[in-house]
Amino acid sequence: MSSTPHPPAGPTDSAFLRAARGEPVPHTPVWFMRQAGRSLPEYLRLREGVGMLESCMDPALTVEITLQPVRRYGVDAAIFFSDIVLPLKAVGVDLDIKPGVGPVVAEPVRTLADVEAIPDLTPDQVPFTTESVRTLVAELGATPLIGFAGAPFTVASYLVEGGPSKEHARTKAMMFGAPDVWDALMRKIAGISAAYLEVQVAAGASAVQLFDSWAGALTPADYAEHVMPHSARVLARAGELGVPRIHFGVGTSNLLTLMGEAGADVVGVDWRTPLADAIPRVGGRGVQGNLDPTLVFAPTEVMTARAAEVIEAGRAARGHVFNLGHGVIPSTDPDQLKRLTEFVQSYPL
Ligand code: CP3
Repeated sequence: MSSTPHPPAGPTDSAFLRAARGEPVPHTPVWFMRQAGRSLPEYLRLREGVGMLESCMDPALTVEITLQPVRRYGVDAAIFFSDIVLPLKAVGVDLDIKPGVGPVVAEPVRTLADVEAIPDLTPDQVPFTTESVRTLVAELGATPLIGFAGAPFTVASYLVEGGPSKEHARTKAMMFGAPDVWDALMRKIAGISAAYLEVQVAAGASAVQLFDSWAGALTPADYAEHVMPHSARVLARAGELGVPRIHFGVGTSNLLTLMGEAGADVVGVDWRTPLADAIPRVGGRGVQGNLDPTLVFAPTEVMTARAAEVIEAGRAARGHVFNLGHGVIPSTDPDQLKRLTEFVQSYPL
């Protein structure tokens, strides 16, 4: 035995970070959006009688829930267990996450005074995040941890609507009709999201994902004028930390170029846009995605045949991180995700 022990291998050379940086990989790295959560029986057991936000503020629970899918599937990255509205809760916005509904805000934001009443985020408001990330990074060893935040438009939708929305009508009414309030709100959220990413990276997260899940509701011109500059500020601040940045939205086929230009190293693509179409649009950036999340309900050989098509298409990109085209559907059979993970990781490149 050597008397000078080697430090444990870190995540720097992991397939996930190599792909995110556009470097050659030993296999296509794979993780799943919403891999931690309701599809896992061990998650449901832990969460019995514990509120969603409560579990995000309890380091022991956060660490365990984040590790569960890594243990079960052997995925190439962990995603930090939290929520896009958690930092708002931390600064004092009165909100809750209702089971089966999503984030609900007690007093929706409508005026400049409402925006100005929201404090900025400082690291001392999320000590549980720092503690959880530090513990996780130590436990994960060579497996990278992805930190995340909500992008200004998607977070604004919850704040302005007061809850989940299909049309984002009030949000867009503010964007079109009250540009000063909109600008103030976007700046406020951008600052909070950037600060939340900084806390996670400072504590050891080795990549970040900015979720603009509902940006697909916008035309390219409206996105470019009213949303992109604010997301770009969040991504620029994350870029200064030296970690790869993934930028994801749903239904964003016509926004992929702009989402890349906003400052992403990797652009997340939902399942509606074939990767072969998406790759030329992201302008030399990497891509992440994009198997239809319902394919896990198909026979295994149908699922894996479609996964193979995604991997083959991904070869044309600067880097490809395999994922579903959106989050894991709660009724997903974990054994099927395990088979999918093994298939992707053993697919010859
Ligand atoms: O991916 C992961 O496993 C990490 C954890 C994570 C959660 N939310 C946990 C969660 C992440 C990355 C998010 C991000 C998030 N939250 C987004 C962007 C990603 C996306 O799916 O587009 C959005 C839009 C939200 C807002 C939100 N929070 C929604 C729409 C919901 C689901 C509502 C429902 O129950 O159908 C939540 C709640 C939530 N966030 C759950 C989990 C595990 C379910 C809570 C529960 O089990 O009680």
